Amino acid sequence: MTLDSSCSPLGRRLIEHGLLNAAQLGESVHAQRVFHKRGRVAPLGEILVAKKYVSRKAIDDALGGMSEVPMTCAACAAKFDGRQLDLSLTYRCKNCKGKLQPPEPEEEAPATQPLPSLEADRPTTKPETLVGRFEVHQQVGHGATGRVYRAWDPKSQRMVALKVLRPDLAGPPGPGDSTRTDERFLRFLREARTATQLRHPHIVQVYEVDEAEDQTFLCMEFVAGGNLGRYLPGPGKAAERGLLVLLRAFADVCGAVDYAHERGIIHRDLKPANILIRPEGDGRDDPLFPLVADFGLAHTAEAGARLTRTGQVLGTPEYMSPEQCDGSREIDRRSDVFALGIVLYELLTGARPFTGEHAMEVLHAVMNREPAPPSRHRPDLDPELAAMVMQALAKDPKRRPATARDLGGRVSRWVSRPAV
Ligand SMILES: Nc1ncnc2c1ncn2[C@@H]1O[C@H](COP(=O)(O)OP(=O)(O)OP(=O)(O)O)[C@@H](O)[C@H]1O
Ligand SMILES: [Mg+2]
Repeated sequence: MTLDSSCSPLGRRLIEHGLLNAAQLGESVHAQRVFHKRGRVAPLGEILVAKKYVSRKAIDDALGGMSEVPMTCAACAAKFDGRQLDLSLTYRCKNCKGKLQPPEPEEEAPATQPLPSLEADRPTTKPETLVGRFEVHQQVGHGATGRVYRAWDPKSQRMVALKVLRPDLAGPPGPGDSTRTDERFLRFLREARTATQLRHPHIVQVYEVDEAEDQTFLCMEFVAGGNLGRYLPGPGKAAERGLLVLLRAFADVCGAVDYAHERGIIHRDLKPANILIRPEGDGRDDPLFPLVADFGLAHTAEAGARLTRTGQVLGTPEYMSPEQCDGSREIDRRSDVFALGIVLYELLTGARPFTGEHAMEVLHAVMNREPAPPSRHRPDLDPELAAMVMQALAKDPKRRPATARDLGGRVSRWVSRPAV
């Protein structure tokens, strides 16, 4: 399928004015089509602003300089404005659900710039297998909750990441299975679907959560740059990208987590493996562009503090908060603040604050031991940064920064402090 910017009147205008490039418009029209498939009308301007491609003011200015694009209901003749729509799609009338007719093509000027063919992204190799409609090409990772594959979605015509969840965690209960319940499975689906509504430039976009052939999977944005783990400093070795770059990325992560908290979603499994990195040269200036993955998934790995009946711990306990470890207290946003503190500690020192020979020892350390001061790993560390990280790691949630935004704000202020 080839996109043509004449299908998107606002997009075409922004391109003409040099405010948007064809690849950015292509990506945004993709997003608009995904919304459309879900029965929602997403104005292009909202998508462009959420992706930080164009400011809201530029959108308002562009719309102000355009005349309306009349879409007429074939049934009741009501008129709607199509400036922000993708005119290659079919829209329905708000009043009578009749089909909206786009303006005659000659009313529109010819396209100024063709958009890239989306079909061109399709891998030329044969897929390994099919999951639902998705053509699975290769596994890119696996974790406590399932396996992640790079896959082609023939419906939206793009590469996606497909996370196929472990059947014992996310599948409906099997016969005689006492550890899974319908309620838990439904709660998982509810949480995962809530996460599909998150729209933030630093959150991996989840397109859909579905089931096919007894498999539950999430289809999400594919992020090609690996995860934050590979950018962390080694023990006693400075990070390749430098401290300021890492701290800026960390503040972006805090902003994304805060955005989700404001919408009632706690991540519960923040760690470097769940912070993906968009590759450079992707039309952005940021040297390290992070995207938080797996919002709304950790319930599956949590229930009962991730302890199985045999005492094994699911996933990695190194990033759990004390209240998650003991499993007896309500988890709130401050649990994520603690996990962000662990990520910050690791980002500053290359070491993890809580370690042990085995999972139970780590859990014990998280609940009972004070971490070594970060300066022990990195003697030249600014005491102000060390104090920030130690505060986030307070055992008592009340003593931590109250929100992820507070923590991110302090880090940002440190980054942009005047040099002495
Ligand atoms: N949307 C994505 N795009 C590209 N790669 C991804 C995507 N999501 C995950 N990955 C890769 O797959 C790896 C495994 O992810 P997965 O979420 O299964 O495990 P995890 O994050 O290590 O642990 P957990 O199960 O606790 O989340 C990630 O570390 C990342 O490198
Ligand atoms: Mg993950």
